[in-house]
This record gives sequence, structure tokens and C-alpha cells, in this order.
Amino acid sequence: MGVPEIAIETSGLVKTFGSTRAVDGVDLTVRRGGIYGFLGPNGAGKTTVIRMLATLLRPDAGEAHVLGHDVLTEAKVIREKIALTGQFASLDEDLTGIENLIMLGRLLGLSSRAARSRGLDLLAAFGLSEAAEKQVKKYSGGMRRRLDIAGSLIVTPELMFLDEPTTGIDPRSRNQVWDIIRTLVSGGTTILLTTQYLEEADQLADRLAVIDHGTVIAEGTPGQLKAQVGSGALTVRVLDEADREDAARVLGEVIGADVHRESDPTALTVRVDQTARAAAALTALEAEDLGIETFSLGQPSLDEVFLTLTGSPADDSAQGTPDETKAGAR
Ligand SMILES: Nc1ncnc2c1ncn2[C@@H]1O[C@H](COP(=O)(O)OP(=O)(O)OP(=O)(O)O)[C@@H](O)[C@H]1O
Ligand SMILES: [Mg+2]
Repeated sequence: MGVPEIAIETSGLVKTFGSTRAVDGVDLTVRRGGIYGFLGPNGAGKTTVIRMLATLLRPDAGEAHVLGHDVLTEAKVIREKIALTGQFASLDEDLTGIENLIMLGRLLGLSSRAARSRGLDLLAAFGLSEAAEKQVKKYSGGMRRRLDIAGSLIVTPELMFLDEPTTGIDPRSRNQVWDIIRTLVSGGTTILLTTQYLEEADQLADRLAVIDHGTVIAEGTPGQLKAQVGSGALTVRVLDEADREDAARVLGEVIGADVHRESDPTALTVRVDQTARAAAALTALEAEDLGIETFSLGQPSLDEVFLTLTGSPADDSAQGTPDETKAGAR
């Protein structure tokens, strides 16, 4: 029997909680290998989709196949092949790092010796050896995330769900988690990663779906989505105010978009789709001897993505207050 090439396939997936349509008809196709990103604001439905795919929650309508198996009728097989970590992960706070891993290993059927040895290897791989004997309640957020991911790797999964693995952790730990994720992928694991950070999706994902209000509003490679949204704004300050109009003309020609004159009489801003265009524009300014004091290229925020894709800010769409949404998401 060949290995199916598709890791996840859903059609018309729906989940309703009371009057909230948390997931409102999601169609997804995720190929095996690599990282698929699931991007959306609080309450968009990301965790709910993952819980259905991980067979923790039953869909109200629609179909989903995970690694070729039906979530409704083959939940047991799916659970053996996947790993899940993130917002709803459970580490035992009173146990130490190694004790948690041993316990998980035992649950997965390893002997205590094998579980300890695998646990120690994983702690070493995740830079947690020194914290092995520390209780988890004394871990920092970044250490917990790493232990959490380590725990889901006791048995190498074919497919791993990472639900906001880097939310609330510092940039250095975030980079470490990114490295871990990349290592997993190179070992053959397919990853479905949810995030609220466009940058994270951009760094890691081969493809991504943008989800809002329980529906997929855009899908593609990060490059394709950015091309839809515009990769941000180029801001240029000329050295000499008198050069600003000439600089505006050059920017307009090279970038092919409206150039905005800022209230600062030396500053211009223009939206750019591709970084390469911004570089070409700067070169053109230099070629015309227009001195530049500073320039900066801003990435679009998730808000900008939503604004462009939905025509309304993400906030407007939230059901209930942010607090309610967050509480419900747990
Ligand atoms: N068990 C539940 N009971 C009631 N409502 C729920 C439940 N789980 C989720 N919801 C609601 O469903 C919607 C989608 O929630 P979900 O947790 O899937 O969003 P999310 O995209 O993961 O958000 P976050 O970024 O905050 O984690 C929200 O409106 C949420 O309040
Ligand atoms: Mg969530």
C-alpha cells in the first residue's frame, strides 16, 4: 500500500458552538512534507479545525481525512500517527521535565528504561538537559514550549499539529522553536502550524491558509499571499526637501503605485509588492543623484492582510469581546 500524498483533506467542515459558527465550511488540502501554516486572528477557528482533525472534536458537518483516514470512523488509527501540541497541551506542573517525558513514553507503551533514555535524548536535543530535574512549574514559557514539543516527539509522528507554538515567548526562544520545527520537517514529519504572526508563517510555511470567521479567505504560498496584500510600505526620506518631487516621480515610475507625501516635507511612502522592487527604486534614486537620508521597508501586519483580504479590520469581526473569544478558545 502506497503512502498517501495528501496529509489532510477536508471539505465543508463545520463546527457550531451554540450560536457561534466556529468553523463554517472549511475546505483544505495539505500535501505531505513541509509546513502548512494556518493564519488567523483570535477566534478565527484555527484551534477548532485542529481539534477536529486530531479527532478530539466531532465535526457537525463535512468530511475530513487525515493521512488517508476518516476522522469520523478511523479516529484510533489517526491518533496513533499524529502528535499534537500547543494551546491545549498538558504537562504535569508538579513533575520534572524528565518525569513528564517518562510518563508520556510509558503511556505510549515504552518500557521505563526506554522511556527514560528517549526522554534524556530529547531533553538534550531541545537544550533542556540542565532543567531535566526541575519541576515544570519552575520552567519559563519558552522552556515549557520546548518540553511540550519534546513530549510529542517520543514517537516520531507522521503529522504534527502545532497550535501557536511561539505565542508569548521571547524572540530567542522563538528562534529555537523554529529550528526545532525545521528539524522535524527534515526528518519527514508534516506539520500543520497555527499562528497569529504573519512573520512566523512567512519564515516557516511552504503554503498557508488565512482563516477568519471560520472560513478560509485566502490560500497559497507566502509569496502569493503577499503579492495579493503588498509586502508593505517603503518609506524614503530625501536629504534635501527640494528633491522630494523628483524622488516621488522616480518612485512612482519604478514601483508603479501611488506615492504618498508625508507631513514631514522630506518623506515619501509607497506600497510595494516585492522587496526587489523597493531595491530597484532605491537604485534608481541614486542613479538620479537624489540623496537619501533614510529608508525603511515595513512588512505588512496581520491587520493589513485582513484589511486587504476582507476589507475590514480583524477586530470588527470578532464575536463577543476579546476576553470571551480567548476563554472560548481554551
Ligand atoms: N468549546 C467551546 N465552546 C464554545 N465556544 C467555543 C469553544 N471552542 C471555541 N469556541 C468559539 O469558537 C470560535 C473559534 O475558536 P477557536 O479556538 O477555534 O479560534 P482560534 O482561531 O484558535 O483562536 P485563538 O487565536 O484565540 O486561539 C470562537 O468564537 C470561540 O469563542
Ligand atoms: Mg486557538
